[in-house]
Amino acid sequence: MKVLSVFGTRPEAVKMAPVVQRLAQTPGIESRVCVTGQHRQMLDQVLNLFNIVPETDLNLMRPDQKLAGLTASILTSIDEVLAAEQPDWVLALGDTTTVISTAMAAFYRKIKFGHVEAGLRTNNKWHPFPEEINRRMASLLADLHFCPTELNRQNLLAEGIADERIRITGNPAIDALQAIASRPAPAEVTDLLARLGVGPGGKRLVLITAHRRENFGQPLEDILAALRQIAGRYRGQVELVYPVHLNPNVQGPAHAALDGISNITLLPPADYLPMVHLQKSAALVLTDSGGLQEEAPALGVPTLVMRETTERPEGVTAGTLRLVGSDTARIVAEASRLLDDPEAHASMAHAANPFGDGHAAERIVAALLAEGA
Ligand code: UD1
Repeated sequence: MKVLSVFGTRPEAVKMAPVVQRLAQTPGIESRVCVTGQHRQMLDQVLNLFNIVPETDLNLMRPDQKLAGLTASILTSIDEVLAAEQPDWVLALGDTTTVISTAMAAFYRKIKFGHVEAGLRTNNKWHPFPEEINRRMASLLADLHFCPTELNRQNLLAEGIADERIRITGNPAIDALQAIASRPAPAEVTDLLARLGVGPGGKRLVLITAHRRENFGQPLEDILAALRQIAGRYRGQVELVYPVHLNPNVQGPAHAALDGISNITLLPPADYLPMVHLQKSAALVLTDSGGLQEEAPALGVPTLVMRETTERPEGVTAGTLRLVGSDTARIVAEASRLLDDPEAHASMAHAANPFGDGHAAERIVAALLAEGA
């Protein structure tokens, strides 16, 4: 049975890595990997970390690429890969442009499509944009749906997807996280924290990521204003560290607003290994990304989600995540509460992991074997 895994962005690569590794070790499966290169530099970091060498690299990233052009070029390029490889199954994960284009290409060739991280929903067409619609379209096209949680299964059932096509597997994000969090912290993290004076008895770390498309423009400016205020209020006590996504819509505003503030450190996008260890060291995470919302409950780090909606309410229910939107005053107030009130902090800082047990890749591969070619 030939299985082709397709991914293109950094988070897809992190989460698909355990699946790809498992496929490669499984007798009876021929595993092939195609990367679209939707994220060139950020993807390559992850491929190196997990020792994955793709058979095909489409290298499709263009500077400041537009969604329509990216979708079209992935669709036509993947079609050629499918024609050459003739896989029995195609796998893709989540809700990016790479996923929807891959799912469509597989459909046009009548090749079975397995959707990993299936069934996440905000039920808001514009939040997150364009991901909510990407994942809905992927669900329409999938032959097997690998859901992280029971809630994800319920979302799919409510849309009329047959239960026998759904498997609850957990999210392979947790497989990857467990593998990487158990490694020692890399020197780049320990050196940075030492230089900033962060550690037991010293200053506390606030880790930030912000790059979502629906936050581009004014919401991102409001978020950046909140970071400036937090930095001012806690100078000498707190260090803010923000690895900035390479998207020019994020790089420009982030550097314009935050360069030169003594307790804010802007970094290039962090590799996954240092990122996990920065998270482990953080007193508080402020983020609008999806992956950190899964990692925070697993690591027990209080996390404020700077979005209006979340497709991961399990983390809110577990108590580790709180939705705060992009309003400056609200972000500052919620962050201050967690920095000032040890009880409020402790009540959010419990590790309860709703997103998986670290065995998702095993279940996904077993389900594929059971289905057969
Ligand atoms: C993409 C996904 C989003 C995912 C996010 C994770 C879509 C529409 N969006 O958003 O779902 O959460 O990745 O990071 O699929 N760039 C580089 N080098 C890189 C990566 C990006 O220079 O390694 C720059 C390029 O100018 C590129 C731009 O970032 O054109 C935007 O990249 P793109 O993949 O279109 O969207 P993201 O905002 O990264």
